Amino acid sequence: MSRVPLPYSQKILELFRNPKNLGKMEDATVSAVAGNPQCGDMITFYLKINDQDIIEKATFESYGCAANIATSSIVTEKIKGMKLEDAWKITWKSVAEEVGGLPAVKFHCGVLAVGALRRAIRAYYQKKQQTPVWLPKELTFEEKQALEEEELAKILARRMRTAEEGT
Ligand code: FES
Repeated sequence: MSRVPLPYSQKILELFRNPKNLGKMEDATVSAVAGNPQCGDMITFYLKINDQDIIEKATFESYGCAANIATSSIVTEKIKGMKLEDAWKITWKSVAEEVGGLPAVKFHCGVLAVGALRRAIRAYYQKKQQTPVWLPKELTFEEKQALEEEELAKILARRMRTAEEGT
């Protein structure tokens, strides 16, 4: 059975072929993972942050799809030189717009990229034992979605294991 290709924008395809800031950062101040290794949709964000809470460098590793790689590439480009407070305000919708739109089934890929960024920012302040006033106590939509996906993936993996054991 042949698969219908997804209507990816030119920009997504371009960034998928030539992603920016791809790779592990050895001297990162903080890193965060979103997604689940069992289903393969996993992303890690690395941030190098200076004393003024400005992002000096951002890189990512992705085991997600083209949409995930493209949105992560855009996010890491955008946040370079930004204060953490401003980087926090980036939404998955604005990122989706910047890549020329995402097919509906790929919304979660952009959500995962922003979710990973926000987790990294939270982890940074947790490490510093600080809570800036602009950082919401409650998890945001992007963070909740990342969590939900991880839960779903775990349930699926458990079901598959049970099915395998039953065969
Ligand atoms: S990251 Fe899951 S399909 Fe794109």
